[in-house]
Amino acid sequence: MINTNYSSLIMTRNLKKTYQNPAGEIQALKGINLVINQGEFVGIIGRSGAGKSTLINMLAGLDSITSGEVWVENVPIHAKNEDFLANWRGLKIGLIFQNFNLISTLSLLDNVMLPLDFSGQFNAKRSRDLAKKLFDEVGISEHIFKLPSGISGGQQQRTAIVRALINNPAIILADEPTGRLDSVTSESIMHIFEAQVIKGKTIIMVTHDESLIPRFSKVYFMEDGLIFPKNTSDKKLK
Ligand SMILES: Nc1ncnc2c1ncn2[C@@H]1O[C@H](COP(=O)(O)OP(=O)(O)OP(=O)(O)O)[C@@H](O)[C@H]1O
Ligand SMILES: [Mg+2]
Repeated sequence: MINTNYSSLIMTRNLKKTYQNPAGEIQALKGINLVINQGEFVGIIGRSGAGKSTLINMLAGLDSITSGEVWVENVPIHAKNEDFLANWRGLKIGLIFQNFNLISTLSLLDNVMLPLDFSGQFNAKRSRDLAKKLFDEVGISEHIFKLPSGISGGQQQRTAIVRALINNPAIILADEPTGRLDSVTSESIMHIFEAQVIKGKTIIMVTHDESLIPRFSKVYFMEDGLIFPKNTSDKKLK
């Protein structure tokens, strides 16, 4: 089903997410309206618990939407089943989880090659070469045969970044991708992301690091399940 009214790459309409906890309901997203165009580098900042990871999960179709709509490239993500979404994610989305989500029994190299296997793009030699090039770019090529437990948090984070980029995804959703990195490594990741944007990729990046704000083409603040464009909530920054 094509909805010809929407020309933007990503759009949400009154998106809400409520979690049921033993202690009661938590409204993590209270009505998010977002329009993101192709080629944007979008920063999302906000306090812990504001709903940033929940929003990333909803954009990736990773969890059920309580109400509202999520459209990505004219695909109604809110209306698709898990089988469709798993396949779609493999082709379109590079996802960097806040907690990395590496598979503990696989080497770093095998961790990043797994998505290629799933998306049917597997060619052993080409995939390995590409993985090694990306590991080199993020500065951890000497560790690729280790298990995640044998490397630092920052090195795990860089592995998660390589895994997100290896499918050459059109959209990169990055949840605090530099949160565990020193400033030099963080800068090298920002360069990699900027090169992706120049190639026409679209990136949505959650960060606590306000010094990165000038690097984004658009910035949103999240607070208590709501989202605000930068200019309307500057005063909330402090
Ligand atoms: N799976 C879940 N089940 C129940 N409640 C959840 C779940 N995930 C998130 N929440 C709640 O939803 C709210 C938003 O959480 P979320 O993880 O999206 O925040 P965040 O902005 O990413 O925070 P942080 O900066 O700490 O990562 C919080 O109150 C959180 O406790
Ligand atoms: Mg989070």
